[in-house]
Amino acid sequence: MNPKSCIEFVDEAVSTQDLVKARLHSGASGPIIIATANQTGGRGRLGRTWVGRPGESLAVSIVLPRWCRLRRPWLIGMSAAVACASAFDARVQWPNDVVIDGRKVAGVLVELVTDHLGTGCPVVGIGLNLGQTEFPAEIAHRATSLKLARGRSWTPEEALDQMLDRLLSLEHVETWEDLRDAWSVFDSTRGKRYRLTGGEEAEALGIGADGTLLCSVDGETRTVLAAE
Ligand code: BTN
Repeated sequence: MNPKSCIEFVDEAVSTQDLVKARLHSGASGPIIIATANQTGGRGRLGRTWVGRPGESLAVSIVLPRWCRLRRPWLIGMSAAVACASAFDARVQWPNDVVIDGRKVAGVLVELVTDHLGTGCPVVGIGLNLGQTEFPAEIAHRATSLKLARGRSWTPEEALDQMLDRLLSLEHVETWEDLRDAWSVFDSTRGKRYRLTGGEEAEALGIGADGTLLCSVDGETRTVLAAE
């Protein structure tokens, strides 16, 4: 079955992640793809909120059955970022931000959800800024939209279609080696500054084994699993 035949567009959702989770809990099988252009309570990484404007952004959550068997769920989030960058001529920054000219145009959240059989399934949520021309003050300096950056807008349906084509072409990804070449085409992580979980400042050197971040902290090279 082509996963694209499972796309459900809903008029409004608090969080598309929760709609997909509810489906998994109630025993749904097969691909689940729920999207909206009007998400009112979007979640971002690290407990942050993800704000979209009604009709001007795309929120979509996806689970594909084969993802539930993967041992490296973070690679799906990285694949989603590559898919998005490839669809809109953007760049990726570890772990899975999508940027144009250094400003974030899309974000990816991966949540591990237990289905009705007790299997952990990664639910991938993608928030894409389509037509916004203004952002809340706290993110205005680091956010952009396709309309601002590319001078044209995509409809939510078109944008989802293009992203999914790319994501499905990465369906074979199981290890970092499977994704490395595609990631490298779009990567702009090197040189970005991160704050590590211990509070230290780090400068990105690149991507290490298994999709980890390779960075420099006061001249010392470290490999880290989490940083912002
Ligand atoms: C980030 O913090 O960069 C990740 C943002 C992810 C937002 C998307 S929008 C679709 C899905 N539903 C949510 O509530 N969050 C994700």
